[in-house]
Amino acid sequence: MRSLIIGGAGFIGSHLADQLVLRGPVTLYDNLSVGKPAFVAGHLEAGRATLVEGDTLDYDKLRATVAGHDVVFHLAANPEARWGLERTRLDLEQGTIATYNVLEAMRTTGVSQIVFSSSGTMYGDTAEPCAEMDLGHLPISLYGASKWAGEALISAFVECFGLSAWIYRFGNVVGPRGTHGAALDFLKKLREHKTHLDVLGDGRQAKPYLHVTDCAAGILHGFDTQRPGATAAERLRVFNLAPPDFTSVKKIAELCVAASPYPQAEIRYGGGDRGWPGDVPQSRIKPDKLAAAGFRVRYSSDEAVGMAVDALAGEVFPAT
Ligand SMILES: NC(=O)c1ccc[n+]([C@@H]2O[C@H](COP(=O)([O-])OP(=O)(O)OC[C@H]3O[C@@H](n4cnc5c(N)ncnc54)[C@H](O)[C@@H]3O)[C@@H](O)[C@H]2O)c1
Repeated sequence: MRSLIIGGAGFIGSHLADQLVLRGPVTLYDNLSVGKPAFVAGHLEAGRATLVEGDTLDYDKLRATVAGHDVVFHLAANPEARWGLERTRLDLEQGTIATYNVLEAMRTTGVSQIVFSSSGTMYGDTAEPCAEMDLGHLPISLYGASKWAGEALISAFVECFGLSAWIYRFGNVVGPRGTHGAALDFLKKLREHKTHLDVLGDGRQAKPYLHVTDCAAGILHGFDTQRPGATAAERLRVFNLAPPDFTSVKKIAELCVAASPYPQAEIRYGGGDRGWPGDVPQSRIKPDKLAAAGFRVRYSSDEAVGMAVDALAGEVFPAT
């Protein structure tokens, strides 16, 4: 299988690469804005993967790279929902237009299988546990809006041009090589201030945290077991990918302080029920559909967070 991972030098992309190199040659297309060649250095040195430095908005380069692959894993996007508050075109360009470019490059080069990284932000501001069809609440961030638009574009390309698609709505993904998220933020803040940790919101925000190895395993389980059928409905698969439980921000903050060299640091909560406008304070995602297809996460949300904090503490405080 000749795989292309767009955003392949990033956090989830590099873990997916760890699995895909076992199946055949892997191309990683990444503008290295966030991703690092070091995350995939072993595969590059062993000749199992090739890194193409390029941007999803450079259509000609993207198209030339897409050609000749069996499957495209499209993971490149703005990784931080709150950046959209400062730069309101960011998610439009890095999410919606980038996804259109990927689909159009596939259509015009005859590559028919796409795997897309969507998000639980699709379900908007509701604390109700959501299954894949529970779309009564629209996204409340520009990031979520771009995931919504990306999914809609994929659905249209499946129907109109015969593509096959696997869309995964992730919970919050955590683990080694993490490039963003609450645990990494907290550890970096502790490195800077040592005596205290300022937490956005009241700490009661709670979400399902998915270990990155479970994320890669779930993606490939759906891809392997849910093969495309003849109709458009059988060529568009949408799955939630998250553990069934959830973890509070307060718990993450406490674990980070304990794992840092500054266990006496004071945790100071900013107040309010959410970290920033557009943040969904309580998120629950039902993983039942992928479970019915035979997939179970290996780690609960609390376990995933605990492991991620330990791994990231080792990266942020390498001498400890
Ligand atoms: N990490 C999470 O908690 C989470 C949750 C839900 C969905 N997702 C989605 O999963 C995907 C991967 O996220 P991640 O956590 O690995 O983030 P990441 O930032 O580590 O990975 C994204 C990669 O894409 C690259 N990239 C960004 N813009 C690009 C562009 N214009 N052209 C080429 N490359 C570009 C970055 O350099 C990076 O290597 C994203 O689409 C993200 O929205 C992540």
